[in-house]
Amino acid sequence: MPIDAKLAPSILAADFARLGDQVAEAARAGADRIHVDVMDGHFVPNITIGPPVVKALKRVTKLPLDVHLMIADPDKYIGAFADAGASMMSVHVEVLPHLHRTIYAIKALGVKAGVGLNPSTPVVAISEVAGDVDFVLVMSVNPGFGGQTFIPAAIDKIADLRALVGGRPIDIEVDGGVTPETAPKVVAAGANALVAGSAVFRSGDYKASIAAIRNAAALARGEAA
Ligand code: DX5
Ligand code: ZN
Repeated sequence: MPIDAKLAPSILAADFARLGDQVAEAARAGADRIHVDVMDGHFVPNITIGPPVVKALKRVTKLPLDVHLMIADPDKYIGAFADAGASMMSVHVEVLPHLHRTIYAIKALGVKAGVGLNPSTPVVAISEVAGDVDFVLVMSVNPGFGGQTFIPAAIDKIADLRALVGGRPIDIEVDGGVTPETAPKVVAAGANALVAGSAVFRSGDYKASIAAIRNAAALARGEAA
């Protein structure tokens, strides 16, 4: 049986002075997509990167760029991130009174549309758009920083989300504190995409750390590692 969980290393934990090299190394090590954390100092208490960096990454990798918009006004910037080369874009339900419109605006740009939920946001907040999104991003830490501890309440939330989307084969991506210890729990609950920042880029060996997360996830699905 194929190992199903997709692995998305988050460049937040990479060395920004060597970003191109580190992304290429993550690709060689078996990453399925590259997770790009965009923070604006308003929605979250940290500032990171914008469209120019996405555009630069697009030139150095063939992997899909999974752009996570932790920003207060995503509607203003989705066009710029699509032009820069985003393949997937997630926006946060907490900042969007017209979430349905934003989802279709992202799709109209030819980009996969996802919605992110903070740890304190209930699953019901997205029940009316569950049939519209291409993926859901479950935050298992409070967004803003890498290297935080996994919040276990995310596990039940993933199971509830999987039930909400029914048989629709969308990705449930989990973001924050994903390690070989936490990955099996979220995959067993129904997640099939894993974001991992520190566990990959702060390890000495990307290939070994990606394999460790992947194998732990595969075991949770009852597959041979
Ligand atoms: C948190 C970011 C995450 C973060 C994950 O605000 O959205 O993508 O980089 O980092 P780790 O894997 O270190 O928790
Ligand atoms: Zn993220």
